[in-house]
Amino acid sequence: MIIARSASELRGFLDTKTLSVGFVPTMGALHIGHRSLIETARKENDIVVVSIFVNPTQFLAGEDLSKYPRREEADFKICELSGVDILFYPDVSAMYGADEVRITAPDVRGFILEGSSRPGHFDGVLTVVMKLLNIVRPSRAYFGKKDAQQLSLITQMCENFFMNIEIIPMETVRENDGLALSSRNVYLSSSERQEALKLSSALKRATEMLMQGNTKSSEIKASMEHILVPLNVEYVAIVNRKFEALDEIVIGNTIVLVAARVGMTRLIDNVWL
Ligand code: PAF
Repeated sequence: MIIARSASELRGFLDTKTLSVGFVPTMGALHIGHRSLIETARKENDIVVVSIFVNPTQFLAGEDLSKYPRREEADFKICELSGVDILFYPDVSAMYGADEVRITAPDVRGFILEGSSRPGHFDGVLTVVMKLLNIVRPSRAYFGKKDAQQLSLITQMCENFFMNIEIIPMETVRENDGLALSSRNVYLSSSERQEALKLSSALKRATEMLMQGNTKSSEIKASMEHILVPLNVEYVAIVNRKFEALDEIVIGNTIVLVAARVGMTRLIDNVWL
């Protein structure tokens, strides 16, 4: 596995090749969810590039940037064992200069739900993803459905800027008891981890109600909120793939989302129906 620490180093390796490139952007603290993205990229492309970069511009003041889990040695091993060809591992100065042009998230879709709880977060995500995609120039880039709004905005950015990259949505990977894998799960104590199961239980309840024929968003949300007590719930939402609120679930075009704090840890989860 080659480790590249700057854009020019990475291009130096890739410019000699005319093969398909699969790209998995990450912030490290890799878990089985990331591995499933890497494994799919491995199957579908000649070359696999993974980036590990804890992007400061997507963290708001007071968020967990300084304590975001960093696992350099373990992450490098996971990448190597998963068959990654090139690991892009820049530091902040290799990615950002002073007084730069930034990408701005769209006024509505970028500032509801996650964007409302974390205003400016998606500007940072889109800016760094634009940089990463321009550095790697992949054929395909792989993103988890767990960050549904991020995935939707990145897909929209690629369309709006006429970028010829296939964005591949990947299923959320869960523990056996339903907890969605997340790098932030390491912050949870064992009792908080139990509490965190309420997120996936609430989503399961939404699916069950739908299976029983109830498509009414207001009733499904009320039932989910009941399950989520006593967590500090930031939102329960039912939207279509464009993140427009739905009064009724439309099978094939609905995402049910939840964000809540468990202790000090903010968790998100969703189900695509
Ligand atoms: O989902 C993430 O890990 C990050 O938001 C991403 C896409 C790597 C951009 O920093």
